[in-house]
Amino acid sequence: MAFEIKMPQLGLTMEEGTVARWLKQEGDSVKKGDVLLEITTDKLTSEIESEADGILLKIVAEEGEDVPVKGLLGYIGESGEQIGQASASAATPTPASAPAAVPAAAKKAADTSVVVVGGGPGGYVAAIRAAQLGGKVTLIEKNKLGGTCLNVGCIPTKVLLHAAEALTEAKHMDNLGIQISVNGIDWKAVQSRKEAVTNQLVSGVIGLMKANKIRVMEGTASFASKTALEVVKKDGTKENVPFDKVILATGSVPAVPPIPGVKGNAACVDSTGALAFDHVPETLLVIGGGVIGMELATAYSRFGAKVTVVEAMPKLLPMMDGELTAMLRKKMEASGVTILTEAKVQSVEAAPVGAKVQVEVGGKVESFEAEKVLVAVGRRTDTEALGLDKVGIAHDRGRITVNDKMETNVPNIYAIGDCLGKVMLAHVASAQGEVAAENALGEIAVYDGKTNPSCVYTDPEFAGVGLTEEKAKEEGIPYQVGKFPLMANGKALIMNGGEGMIKFIIGKEYGEVLGVHILGPRATDLIGECALAIGMEATVDEIYATIHAHPTVTEAVREAALAATKRAIHIPNK
Ligand code: FAD
Ligand code: NAI
Repeated sequence: MAFEIKMPQLGLTMEEGTVARWLKQEGDSVKKGDVLLEITTDKLTSEIESEADGILLKIVAEEGEDVPVKGLLGYIGESGEQIGQASASAATPTPASAPAAVPAAAKKAADTSVVVVGGGPGGYVAAIRAAQLGGKVTLIEKNKLGGTCLNVGCIPTKVLLHAAEALTEAKHMDNLGIQISVNGIDWKAVQSRKEAVTNQLVSGVIGLMKANKIRVMEGTASFASKTALEVVKKDGTKENVPFDKVILATGSVPAVPPIPGVKGNAACVDSTGALAFDHVPETLLVIGGGVIGMELATAYSRFGAKVTVVEAMPKLLPMMDGELTAMLRKKMEASGVTILTEAKVQSVEAAPVGAKVQVEVGGKVESFEAEKVLVAVGRRTDTEALGLDKVGIAHDRGRITVNDKMETNVPNIYAIGDCLGKVMLAHVASAQGEVAAENALGEIAVYDGKTNPSCVYTDPEFAGVGLTEEKAKEEGIPYQVGKFPLMANGKALIMNGGEGMIKFIIGKEYGEVLGVHILGPRATDLIGECALAIGMEATVDEIYATIHAHPTVTEAVREAALAATKRAIHIPNK
């Protein structure tokens, strides 16, 4: 039976390709591996190789024709072999729908009033984009511009983590042949630096609001109607703010679990409290081995606290690649952090030192005493004050429902970022903010999270984008794995002794990049290249073909891609 040549899927979101040029003609004999034709997508031109030996019996898709993924391009078979009409037409699928992202020409919107509620990385970015597109923009913020991210989230945690990293490096300078003595930490100075960095960035946002002629109102907004908000200002006065379009970006707040004894216990803090301790606690018990738990466990254990992490699930950081998470756990345990998984906190009670925490683990109840208890079990949306039900905005227990244009079910009302209660990351909030602003002002934009990296600032850093191996397995996607240990990378060896690994997940048939996971120094910066590869629907060939500078850790990204097809140079390929 004749072999069918089909349009390959060269990336997760590819839906169709165009036949650019046939390099073989009907009647030509072809060998496995010969280039048959070139196809183009909106991003790439790719060569399609023959997967069989024989004669190119028939070209079904002519040059210039758009063909959906898995659509028929032609047949290879033995000389004289007949191809039935019926089989040829049956094999041609119906055309795919239009590609997702279709940026349309900007429509002038000088008279559109856009009100943004919330001044975090979702809201302030949406406000700037709306102003760029000509909207008359007002931003309402009840607290401080910069939101969670700048004031009590991303930035302050990274200031503490950076100081903690510097302290650890300073303590181990003798490894580099440098003799210094470390006299401890000036905690007040560490906290002042945190405030200074935060304040500088918040001032930057204030400056951007002015530069973009955005009116900033201080106060709490709620819906007065489907066309106006009521803002209660700090002095108690109220103002009615009408809008043509509104973008909700009210973010999230820490969730409090229903564990007996947590509420009202002076020793229990959330992430905001843990960022502002007046001294480094001697002992810290962290409830929740998620992103906040692992980052603050890393920081405080490096500052000298004895840290215990209690995680309910079988593994830490449940959304990240399991193999690399296990490596991180080992490293953290070796550095003195106690980690309990499949562990359930039963109760917290006051104790002379701070708190006594009862934890059920492995069928037994163990008791832990800690000066402070960090409760980091997730965040909940901050949408109560908005009065969503008053105007009929669909939501699921406060998590606002939107489509990929960030539109709610109510015309002219958009929502973005943490208040959707899905992926709670600053860069996601900002990306969605741009999409919402563009749609509000007459452009067509859609949010597509496929290039969204997850980064955890542990030691070593941990970052991932695309599918994890677990997810590829679960979804039944045929895949191959390429791994490269950082021990074999010169720069990583110099920087952190070569701890960590880079792992590629690629499609088995076409080698498209499905996911990349990195545990290693500056993983959070390295992941950018991998996100771009996924966004460009690149195959591993494109990673191989890119020359990576030496000596850098990025070389290991290329090596891990090579390892996926057993071509790695600096490790034996098994
Ligand atoms: P927010 O930043 O929460 O901003 C919402 C704003 O809306 C707030 O300022 C709030 O005061 C205001 N608001 C709420 N209701 C009203 C109302 N009715 N009227 C007026 N104003 C209102 N993400 C990362 O990507 N990288 C990180 O490293 C990272 N680290 C983090 C560390 C910690 C400790 C925490 C807690 C979070 C971290 N995050 C990180 C998550 C990140 O901070 C959030 O995803 C991001 O801030 C969400 O942006 P947003 O604009 O949706 O909401
Ligand atoms: P999270 O969802 O990341 O982790 C919460 C963890 O607590 C989970 O592992 C969960 O299994 C566990 N848990 C839940 N209930 C528990 C219980 N009763 N006992 C023990 N464990 C329990 O939430 P987290 O860490 O609070 O962070 C909130 C959000 O902030 C995250 O969604 C994250 O996206 C964002 N964030 C991002 C950072 C980054 O990008 N570097 C850094 C910090 C936060």
